[in-house]
Amino acid sequence: MKNVILVVDDDKANLSLAQRILGSQYRIAASNSGKASLKYLERHRPDLILLDINMPEMNGFEVMEKLRSDSHLKTIPVIFLTADATAETEIKCFRMGAMDFVTKPFVPDILLSRVSKTIELDQYRHKLEDMVDIQAQKIMESSMRLNRIQDSVVVGMANLIESRDGSTGKHVKNTQNYVRMIATELLSRGLFTEELTPAYIEELCKAAPLHDVGKIKIPDAILQKPGRLTPEEFETMKLHTTHSRQIIQTIIGDIEDEHYVRLVEDIALYHHERWDGRGYPTGLTESDIPLSARIMAVADVFDALYEERCYKPPVRPIERIMQIMSEGRGTQFDPVILDVFMDMLPQLKEVLHIMDT
Ligand SMILES: [Fe+2]
Repeated sequence: MKNVILVVDDDKANLSLAQRILGSQYRIAASNSGKASLKYLERHRPDLILLDINMPEMNGFEVMEKLRSDSHLKTIPVIFLTADATAETEIKCFRMGAMDFVTKPFVPDILLSRVSKTIELDQYRHKLEDMVDIQAQKIMESSMRLNRIQDSVVVGMANLIESRDGSTGKHVKNTQNYVRMIATELLSRGLFTEELTPAYIEELCKAAPLHDVGKIKIPDAILQKPGRLTPEEFETMKLHTTHSRQIIQTIIGDIEDEHYVRLVEDIALYHHERWDGRGYPTGLTESDIPLSARIMAVADVFDALYEERCYKPPVRPIERIMQIMSEGRGTQFDPVILDVFMDMLPQLKEVLHIMDT
C-alpha cells in the first residue's frame, strides 16, 4: 500500500507539481490552506506532511504549532516548503520540529529523495519504538517475576522465624494486613502525606514481614519461654532489633532499591521504640522515630495482644485491647496514629469476623 503524503500549499501550481513528481510512488492528499489541512487531519493520518510556510490566514509555522500540541498528530514527520531559503528560516523550521526543509521551485529529484528518506527514517523510528516497547514489556515482566520471587522468599523467611517464636503462625500476615489498613487510613485522612503515598504503602507492606527477622539469633529458651522473661533474658530479647538490621543489611543490603532497604531497616530496628523515648534499642523520641516503625509498633502490639502466645492467652474482647493500647497514647504510641487506629475498630472487627452482640 502506498504511503500517504499531505501537501499543504496555497499555490495550486505547486500542489499539482508535487502531485506530478510524487504521485507515481505515493498517494497525495492536497490542501490549499492551513485551516483546510487541519480539517483533513481530524479524520486522516498521513505518513508525511509537506507544509508551505507562507500562506494567508494561517501560515505553516502556525499549522506546525497546532500539530505539535496534538498528541495524535505530533509524531507525523513534516517537511517545510519555502521559497525563502535563508539560514534563519531554515533554523526556525528545525526548531519547530521539522524533519527537513525543501526550497521552491521544486527540483524533482531533490523533492523525491527528501520525501523517501524522511518516510524511511520515520518507519525505522516506528520499528525502533516498537522494539523498545517490546523489550520494556519483557523487562517489566521479568522484574515482576523477580519481585514475586523476592516477596515469597521474604514471607517464607519471616514465617520460618515465626515458627520458632511461639506465636500462632499468623503474626507475619496479620501485622502486614494491619500495617496496610493503618497506612491506607492515614493517607485517606490526608495525614503524613509528605511520606505516605500509595507506592510507599506498597513498600511498607513488603517490608513489614521482616520486622522480627533478628529473632533468628535469639535462643529458643528465651523465644519460647512460657512465662515472663527475667531482666537479663529481656535484654537478650531486645537485641532482636539490632540483629534484624544486621541480617537485613546482609541479605538485601546490596539490592539497588535503596528506599526499600532503608524502609525494611527502619521497621526492623525501630519498631520497639516508644513515643516518649523509653523504647529500645536507641531511645528515639516522637517523630524522630521513622513513620514506618511508628505504624509497625501499633500493628505489632495489637496483634501480640489479640493472638495467643506461648506465654499468654489472647486478650478479649477487642475493646479491652483498644483500651490497653489507648493508655499508651503519646507515651508508647504516636498519638495521631493511635487515634486513627482507635477509630478503625469497626474495620478491625470486620476483618477479624467479630460479631457485635
Ligand atoms: Fe519485635
